[in-house]
Amino acid sequence: MRILGIESSCDECSAAVVEDGRRILSNIVATQIPFHADYNGVVPEIASRMHTEWISRVVKDALAAAGTARSDLAGGAATARPGLSGSLLVGLTFGKAFAWARGLPFIAVDHMLGHLYAPRLLGDIEYPYLGLLVSGGHSIICRVDDFDDITVLGTTIDDAVGEAFDKVAVHYKLGYPGGAVIDKLARSGNPDAFRFPLPNLHKGAHRCDVSYSGLKTAVVNQLEQFRAVDAPTGNADIAASFQKAAVEILLRALLRAQEDTGLTTIVAGGGVAANSYLRARLAARKDLRCLFPPLELCGDNGAMIAGVGYKFLERGDRSPLSATVSARVPAFKRRYP
Ligand code: KG4
Ligand code: ZN
Repeated sequence: MRILGIESSCDECSAAVVEDGRRILSNIVATQIPFHADYNGVVPEIASRMHTEWISRVVKDALAAAGTARSDLAGGAATARPGLSGSLLVGLTFGKAFAWARGLPFIAVDHMLGHLYAPRLLGDIEYPYLGLLVSGGHSIICRVDDFDDITVLGTTIDDAVGEAFDKVAVHYKLGYPGGAVIDKLARSGNPDAFRFPLPNLHKGAHRCDVSYSGLKTAVVNQLEQFRAVDAPTGNADIAASFQKAAVEILLRALLRAQEDTGLTTIVAGGGVAANSYLRARLAARKDLRCLFPPLELCGDNGAMIAGVGYKFLERGDRSPLSATVSARVPAFKRRYP
């Protein structure tokens, strides 16, 4: 069963063909990063405009690369939330029209379900497990009982972890997006050179929540002092120390979730799951089994959407043509009211 998956929630225009929710036949990712870099962040109007210009070609290329004719497809899926509304609308509308014109079943997919599904494109992972969803827009620690049965245990109370990497990188004048640049710069720095404050831990319902605005501000203030004394060599140390603190915040929350649920398998997803220090710290925990998607499936891509789409379509779920987008957080259950 071959499914076409379309992803356009932010600045990647992507389409993929995946067979049986597992075999990636093609996964075309056209990134808009160079077009947003001058602005140090994604400009929504530019993003939706570029998706409009690229989507048709990207889908065509995905079908050609998969050696798949339109008539070989069993269904279509596209991201409907969360993300930039104007960008989401392009992929979702294209996907609906594509499927309708060919009489194919269609399903609208949650982007975060896609990130969680990405490691499953490589092989089965037995439920339940803990999910660590870390991207530019979200930081979510959740219990995963099925591909669509997600309970949020903790989330950020302010900035997302990827956003903190991006904002710090802007202050370094390293460009956008900052995660990969800081990851690389940090390798030549001393992670213990600066001790940045970690947020207070909370009790009760919020014990697995994380926060990044305090860390971000502390790091930015530190940079201002460095600039004042013109000591650019300190940048790598700050990057390494910031990255260590950022990962520490995630680990503390994850360990609490592990304590609460007794689950020891952790499945990561989202752009920040590409972070080498996060991967190394989790790999070092012999008490946990940590599974990461391959680097090319950490960021936004159509394959993860096709994968989730397959699971829904296989069990007969369909979205109506009236399905629309939502910029808001994913529709996951919460552990607490
Ligand atoms: O999942 P994604 O591609 O898009 C969203 O859904 O937001 O995640 C993008 C985020 C950006 O904030 C980017 O800086 C971050 O992932 N990122 C990283 C790394 N690679 C990408 N953060 C830390 N380390 C990395 N190696
Ligand atoms: Zn994403």
